[in-house]
Amino acid sequence: MNRAYTRYGKEIEEAVLRVLRSGIYLNGAETEALERALSSYMGVDYAVGVSSGTEALYLILRALELPLGSYVLLPSFTFVATAEVIVRAGLVPAFVDLEEDTPNLSVESLRQTYERLRAQGSKVSAVLAVSLFGIPARLKEISAICREEKLYLIEDICQAFGAKVEDKKVGTFGVASATSFYPTKNLSACGDAGMVFTNDPNLYAKVKILKEHGQSAPYHYTFHGVNGRIDELQCAILRVKFKYFEEEANLRKKLAKFYLEELSSLPVKTFNLQANSEPLYSLFSIRAKERDDLKSFLEERGINTRIYYPLPLHLQPIYRELGYREGDLPITEKLCREILSLPFFPDLTLDEAKYVVDTIKEFYGV
Ligand SMILES: Cc1ncc(COP(=O)(O)O)c(C=O)c1O
Repeated sequence: MNRAYTRYGKEIEEAVLRVLRSGIYLNGAETEALERALSSYMGVDYAVGVSSGTEALYLILRALELPLGSYVLLPSFTFVATAEVIVRAGLVPAFVDLEEDTPNLSVESLRQTYERLRAQGSKVSAVLAVSLFGIPARLKEISAICREEKLYLIEDICQAFGAKVEDKKVGTFGVASATSFYPTKNLSACGDAGMVFTNDPNLYAKVKILKEHGQSAPYHYTFHGVNGRIDELQCAILRVKFKYFEEEANLRKKLAKFYLEELSSLPVKTFNLQANSEPLYSLFSIRAKERDDLKSFLEERGINTRIYYPLPLHLQPIYRELGYREGDLPITEKLCREILSLPFFPDLTLDEAKYVVDTIKEFYGV
């Protein structure tokens, strides 16, 4: 049995039965209660449950009514959904390089990319900042640039729900943020689900309409919307899991601390953290020059690792028409050659993590 299931399986089964028996599967009390609980946890005025993290991002972009064809700045080192929604919303992704030794946007590269686009007369409308792996991006600096340049800051916190910068939750620095409840995320559903967070009442109202096909009154449509609802079943499950969120977050923190301490003396690198930030790792990734050999070595000894992400978005075939070339975002490209994600989930035991570390030591002969 799934290890986490022993913690809350019985409660989830009861919650699922409650929904099944109620006959209300969409837009009911479970959705409302989850939105209330999570907006309060985030410290924002509004939360809207939606069908996935991808849809949450898309709905924010649509609700902001950004000028069609304008640019949205984002990292190239992220899951494809972050860029996919920009194109779907009729906007253009402009990829920004990373800060050295972090998996997140470089403020300097952000500024340079913005200036370059402005110099060529292009309209830039927003920054989509990702806090990758659960490590907060430089959100204070990025939001200062956005304020100065009158750009919207949207946060993709799909991998970072629960992380903080100076006691302020990641996901509360911009006009809105999107999270994912995909099964491996910090707070996860039993399937697809996501949420939009905002303090803006107009954006909130618009996201609610857009996720219901753009319907502003029964069978009257004011916008081209989508079917982006969240299921009552997922909300009921998420409400149970949210009760255990801090407990699971602490397990993640303990495990991350163990990896960080044990790996510090080895020839692999871990990421730098900005001062006063509190990550909540959803994935634990290291950097190794000899990444592919290390991956095979671990695999041969029964340890499954993943490469998030082997090819940056600016070099993916789907974005070929944007005209990027190899070498355009050198820090990102280097990271893609070195990144390796170790086994990491709340119920991984310290003994299992020790076996991972010992096998890395064996690889390096230390
Ligand atoms: C950084 C990032 N953005 C967006 C998404 C999309 O979320 P979802 O899978 O819920 O659509 C994910 C998760 O898979 C993600 O990791």
